[in-house]
Amino acid sequence: MKYLFSPGKIGEVNIKNRLVRSATWESRATEDGYVTDSLIEFYDELAKGGIGLIITGYIAVDPIGAQTTRMTRIYDDSYIPGQKKLVNSIHEYSDVKVAAQIGHTGNNAISRKLETVGPSPIRDPLTKKICRELKNEEIKEITRKFAEAGFRAYECGYDMIQLHAGHAYLLSDFISPFTNRRNDEYGGSTLNRLKIVIDIYNQIRDNLGKAFPITIKLITQDFLGKGKGLDLEEGVDIAKRLVEIGFDAIEPTSGRTSLRITNNKSFPSVNFSSPDDGTYYLPNAKALKPIMKDCPLILMGGIRNPISADNLLEEKIADFISLSRPFIYEPDLADRWKSGDLSPSLCTNCNACFGIGERREVYCVIKKKLES
Ligand SMILES: Cc1cc2nc3c(=O)[nH]c(=O)nc-3n(C[C@H](O)[C@H](O)[C@H](O)COP(=O)(O)O)c2cc1C
Repeated sequence: MKYLFSPGKIGEVNIKNRLVRSATWESRATEDGYVTDSLIEFYDELAKGGIGLIITGYIAVDPIGAQTTRMTRIYDDSYIPGQKKLVNSIHEYSDVKVAAQIGHTGNNAISRKLETVGPSPIRDPLTKKICRELKNEEIKEITRKFAEAGFRAYECGYDMIQLHAGHAYLLSDFISPFTNRRNDEYGGSTLNRLKIVIDIYNQIRDNLGKAFPITIKLITQDFLGKGKGLDLEEGVDIAKRLVEIGFDAIEPTSGRTSLRITNNKSFPSVNFSSPDDGTYYLPNAKALKPIMKDCPLILMGGIRNPISADNLLEEKIADFISLSRPFIYEPDLADRWKSGDLSPSLCTNCNACFGIGERREVYCVIKKKLES
């Protein structure tokens, strides 16, 4: 384990090791999105387990930006005291860093009661709803809401933020030519489709400066087949532009994978593949790495084995390794691996944690079965 437990850096923020908890919606907030004791306990378990950086589950920047109930929100100042308490509690554990993931669900709201919006009126394959096309001035308003969420995250003591621009959520839908059919300043060319992301970045950077890292979980491909949606070649071009403007880290992911998976009638998820796929964003990471310069690449998706994780770092395919489902099963996985027990994560990729439903807390279904 020469690399996994070596220190790393994102922007000016030092991270004690290369293990990251990829953003995981916790379903532990109140119905209005306020922090609860249960959410704090969930993060305490993780923080004391040896991890270097925790990325929170996505925090909604707008009342219609929360995909489900019991998801955290940060669209006005009333959310600050609870979020501060959460961050302070995480920071009590030996030098753990925490990033606020901020996002807007767009056309992906599970709750049928929410209005769904997007760059263009496209039918969502899961909810079957056609979203309302956003007006130009509404896009500017949402841009401002993202920036304000960034300022609030800073005020709450978060070490950095991550923009959620993947998984067919709003920013991802702006970037993908499959969902963005506009012909104004927000559609058409690659640069126009990226405008909302770049504007958010500039508003946050202009206010908070370079010391507060701005990272992004980025759609790099739609997996809809050749000529449909975003292909990896354009995904690399997009990443290159974001590195050039100054993003502090990129975690590559996909966009509207849901179409492919739904058609296959397997689990309707945007970003998981079968357990056999292994490290399924490896081709994306390999394509991106040459253009990343000094910008760290956070690799996620199916990584379960600490030895292969260490090799990915040694081969400089990734700078950080992030995992989601394994930390639901074993919040102390980092300490287990550090202590020399190098057996892979116990997560079976069953995806039951994802299917728990929006009113219940996320937990590992397999672990609970084994314990009962
Ligand atoms: C229960 C659950 C909730 C998730 N919530 C989020 C989220 O809020 N934001 C996000 O970007 N990804 C979310 N993801 C996706 C994970 O961050 C990660 O990209 C995906 O699970 C693949 O990593 P893994 O193979 O290590 O689980 C979630 C995944 C699970 C299982």
